[in-house]
Amino acid sequence: MLKIDNLGVKYGAVSGVKKIDLLVNQGELVALLGANGAGKSTTLLAVAGALKCDQGSIVFNGQDITLYPPEKTIRMGIAMVPETRDVFPDLTTHENLKLGAFIRSRDKVGIEQDLEKMYGLFPILKDRVNQSAGTLSGGEQQQLVIARALMSRPKLLLLDEPSLGLAPAIVDHIFELILHLKNQGLTILLVEQNAVKALQLADRAYVLSLGTVATAGPAKDIASNSDLASIYFGN
Ligand SMILES: Nc1ncnc2c1ncn2[C@@H]1O[C@H](COP(=O)(O)OP(=O)(O)OP(=O)(O)O)[C@@H](O)[C@H]1O
Ligand SMILES: [Mg+2]
Repeated sequence: MLKIDNLGVKYGAVSGVKKIDLLVNQGELVALLGANGAGKSTTLLAVAGALKCDQGSIVFNGQDITLYPPEKTIRMGIAMVPETRDVFPDLTTHENLKLGAFIRSRDKVGIEQDLEKMYGLFPILKDRVNQSAGTLSGGEQQQLVIARALMSRPKLLLLDEPSLGLAPAIVDHIFELILHLKNQGLTILLVEQNAVKALQLADRAYVLSLGTVATAGPAKDIASNSDLASIYFGN
């Protein structure tokens, strides 16, 4: 479904990623691991079209999307939940969710159905439906941005550190939800600092180091063969 070849992205003179080759097959949950600064977020942002590639190509469902801006990648079926959890703070939970469906704004019936679906998947959002998103807790905001991404009915979901800074009970809930989405057939590329949890859920994993792929393989093999500390700390 997603094929990244020889990807290089620069921030001015600084290299974000140097050479990434990565595949995600339909229905897979692929974990993208690595130390701080390894290039995980840069890779996701490049796929979503939010960063310009300096080198290499990104192909999605057979179509070259290397030069596509975010408005186009989202219409192709790629939704991203960035590290920054950027809710629209002055809009309500409900309004935030509706905005996630902007690419199919004429599909009023479908949008209503999906809103109900999201409130079923994320009951806490139903309790906060008319609350302005800026006043939600960190865990609630994280659930809101995931739900908002799902409102575009993506084929591929890019998740950047969904468990970051959340209480253990919420983290468990988020991981259960990711598993649920996978079981529903959604294809997911998951960036996580929590390598142990991510490897439990994932089919395959890539470990990045200094902007390149250091190790890749079935999640089980990576979990049993690698020194997980080296994944976190990059040594
Ligand atoms: N806006 C930016 N300007 C300049 N350099 C950047 C910028 N964003 C990232 N970088 C650099 O690009 C490299 C990769 O960063 P990236 O954010 O992709 O890492 P990451 O693997 O997501 O790390 P983390 O685990 O801390 O989120 C790092 O060396 C980082 O300093
Ligand atoms: Mg990051």
